[in-house]
Amino acid sequence: MGLGAAAAAASAVPALAQAGERPLGPSLSALAKAKGVRFGSAVGAGKPGSLTGSLEDPRYRQVLIDECGVLVPENELKWYALRPDAKAFAFERADRIAAFAKAHDIALRGHTLLWHHPKWFPAWLNHYDFGSGPAGKAEAQAMLVSHIAKVIKHYPQIDSWDVVNETIDPQDGSIRRTVLSDVMGQEATLDVAFQTARAFAPKARLVYNDYMGWEAGNEAHRAGVLKLLEGFRKRGTPVDALGVQSHLGTEDPAAPGSLGRPQDKPWRAFLDEATGMGYDLLITEFDVNDRDLPGDVATRDTAGASVAKAYLDLMLDYRQTKEVLAWGMVDKYSWLQNFTPRKDGLPKRATLYDDAYKPKPMREAVAAAFRAAPVRT
Ligand code: XIL
Repeated sequence: MGLGAAAAAASAVPALAQAGERPLGPSLSALAKAKGVRFGSAVGAGKPGSLTGSLEDPRYRQVLIDECGVLVPENELKWYALRPDAKAFAFERADRIAAFAKAHDIALRGHTLLWHHPKWFPAWLNHYDFGSGPAGKAEAQAMLVSHIAKVIKHYPQIDSWDVVNETIDPQDGSIRRTVLSDVMGQEATLDVAFQTARAFAPKARLVYNDYMGWEAGNEAHRAGVLKLLEGFRKRGTPVDALGVQSHLGTEDPAAPGSLGRPQDKPWRAFLDEATGMGYDLLITEFDVNDRDLPGDVATRDTAGASVAKAYLDLMLDYRQTKEVLAWGMVDKYSWLQNFTPRKDGLPKRATLYDDAYKPKPMREAVAAAFRAAPVRT
């Protein structure tokens, strides 16, 4: 091995592992990369103590540096975080994440240019009066286009964008309505978002991202997403990939005390249809919600690792799966601590690392899935 190759091999071993704090072995990013997959995580810009605040925690930063080939701002690019009003853009928090990624030679992906759901629009936008008729339509379109253009131009390094997020209603599979779609039309609003993204980021991977899952109960959601993807293809809307959020373990009233009932066959049928239309796949927000599992830590960790391995094996079996993003890397910073807390009040164990920054069985499950995955280009 020449000097260059030796240095490259050494740099694939996480720094804390080299310092003896972690088991030696390649990082998740290196394991994924060997198979043509990019691995990374979401991260918040806030201070430790605020739930998504993790970038300012040095030990957390080290986990990200050690394991990740790509980072995504967890909230900082959403309209409600970025747009205090119709004119201003508050880039500072997202800029901090971008600077961190750049300093450590980690790629950046973007989430999201249009979370097309009134619940996640800023109040000023939900109350914005665009008026009616062609003038109202033109004004709504101008606002959407200028938002997307400005954000994309601010982050030319972002090469993978969740252009539209969660616009399918899981109850009936319909496209959600917002103040924008009420004047522009539902499909037209989404099409404009993707067309604008393509115009300003011609080389980026453009993604439709949603949480339809493999568990029972997601049937209408999956059907709605397929219909949406079909519509994009019919109209020539530039969409490259389906983002499968992969928040595993959704609560399932029919299977209490479990991580839900995976439907392997219908799930594969869903993925077959999406990939059959030419879409790539991304796992964009991986975590395991252990809300309904018994409190015992070993039981929870074993169950979490085993569902993670089964799920990732299935997903990585599709050569179209190109990126795998965890929605946070350390339990205490997981959004799931607040969202659906456990009845016994115990902290959740939803991510790959525990609160002492030690890898959990779920980290090893992800590593094993990458090791077993077929190579893709
Ligand atoms: C979540 C964040 O993790 C939380 O901090 C925030 O309060 C709400 O949003 N689907 C998505 C993500 O597309 O943007 C969500 O992130 C999690 C579910």
